[in-house]
Amino acid sequence: MTTQIPAGYTYGSTAPSPVSPEELAQLEASVLFTADDQEALRTAGDVLEDQVEDVLDVWYGFVAANPHLVAYFSTPDGTVLNDYLGRVRGRFGQWILDTCRRPHDREWLSYAHEIGLRHTFEKKNKTDDAPSVSHIPLRYMVAFIYPITATMRPFLAKKGHGEEDVERMHQAWFKAVTLQVILWLRPYSSDRW
Ligand code: HEM
Repeated sequence: MTTQIPAGYTYGSTAPSPVSPEELAQLEASVLFTADDQEALRTAGDVLEDQVEDVLDVWYGFVAANPHLVAYFSTPDGTVLNDYLGRVRGRFGQWILDTCRRPHDREWLSYAHEIGLRHTFEKKNKTDDAPSVSHIPLRYMVAFIYPITATMRPFLAKKGHGEEDVERMHQAWFKAVTLQVILWLRPYSSDRW
C-alpha cells in the first residue's frame, strides 16, 4: 500500500453527515462496539498494512466470479469497466486502513455518509465519471457484510497473533463493517432509517 492519496478520495472535505454524534454513539452501543474494539482495530491496522493488496485480490476475485455483482462495475450493456474497477480499488484499500485507524469523529461520520451516497443513484459513478449502472441495490449492501468479514480472518491470523487476539480483531472488524453499512444505508431511505 502506497501512501499516495487514492483518486477520488475526499476524506475530510465532504458535506457533514445528517447523523449526529449522539445517534452514532447509540448505534455503536447497538452493535456492541466499544473502546476495546477500537484498540483491537488499531492492532488489525498494523497486521493488515502490508496485506491490503492481497485482501483486495480476494474481494475483487469474489466480485469478478459473480456476474450479477461485476455488473455494478460495468456499463448497462455489460462491458466491464477496468479503469473504474481500478480507481475504486485504490479507495477501497484506503478504507481498510481507515476502518482500523480513523477515530469515529465528525469527519469519519461525514465520509461514511459520502460512501453511502456513492453506492446510490445520487452519487454512484460521479467521482470517476464512469459510464456504469447507476445504483447498487440495498440487498447487496447488507449481503456483503458476510464476505467482507469472513474473508478477513486468515489475513488477521497471518502475523503470529494468538487465537484470542485474532478473534478480538475479527469481532471488532465485523462490528466496524456492520456499523458502517448501517450508516451507508441512510441515503437509501432517510425517512425509514
Ligand atoms: C465503492 C466498500 C458493497 C460496488 C466502495 C468504496 C468502498 C466500498 C470502501 C469506496 C468508497 C470511496 O469512494 O471512498 C464496500 C463495502 C460493502 C460494499 C464494505 C458492503 C459491506 C458493495 C456492493 C457492490 C459495491 C454490494 C456491488 C457489487 C461498489 C462500487 C463502488 C464502490 C461500484 C464505486 C462507487 C462510485 O461510483 O463511487 N465500496 N462496498 N459495493 N462499491 Fe462498495
